[in-house]
Amino acid sequence: MKLIVTESYEESSRLLADMFEEVVAEKADAVLGLATGSSPIGLYRCLVQDFEAGKVDFSKVHTINLDEYEGLGRSHEQSFGYFMDQHFFSRVNIKKENIMLIDGAGKPEEQIRRYDEFLEKNPIDILVLGIGNNGHIGFNEPDRVFQAGTHLVELEEDTIKANARFFEKESDVPKRAVTMGMKGIVNAGKVVLIASGKAKAKAIHELFQDDIIDPMLPCSILKVCREAVVVVDRELYEQAENE
Ligand code: F6R
Repeated sequence: MKLIVTESYEESSRLLADMFEEVVAEKADAVLGLATGSSPIGLYRCLVQDFEAGKVDFSKVHTINLDEYEGLGRSHEQSFGYFMDQHFFSRVNIKKENIMLIDGAGKPEEQIRRYDEFLEKNPIDILVLGIGNNGHIGFNEPDRVFQAGTHLVELEEDTIKANARFFEKESDVPKRAVTMGMKGIVNAGKVVLIASGKAKAKAIHELFQDDIIDPMLPCSILKVCREAVVVVDRELYEQAENE
């Protein structure tokens, strides 16, 4: 697991975009693993800019997202599908049929089966991850064990509170979500985690403090990924050091 410290969130985002574009340049039909939330917004902004400048072509790529709230269909403004349409899919030339999303409004068992079948046949080439304040990746929350496959998860109180900023009120945040499990993440060719903001300092500190893989700190699974890069800006790095 490699740590890269940048001078700003913008620099981190640019670095990630370069990594994604390098993969697509080498493999036009690469499978891109994608996250939502605040962390990857800068990455999507850079990718859209470069697409508009003719520097990257997404016409053959496939995408798969990490997670989705239970009960929220793609047209719901707080769904991750809607987020992806707004920030990325509608702005580049990714083919509709090459986009793999969990349908939050669909039956979880069906979504889980569809996702795991896809991942079995199409391992991710490059995956972007954000990180929860509690160290979650995707919606793999701290737990006694890791779960390998895609699964339905009860969101932690802390996660619901952190994500309430996207909803009108905290009680609107769904209590459950479907998330890719650790198998899809560990099987990715390259995993890039981007973190910014002081709320992430404790999780980043714990991630680098030892060599232990602990389901209570889900991001620690990155230690067994083939190629994992953690990109943090200097402000967060310094906060994490002082934890
Ligand atoms: C979202 C996801 C989550 C977020 C995490 C951080 O698809 O997988 O793990 O990456 O909750 O969210 P932000 O970036 O909003 O702080």
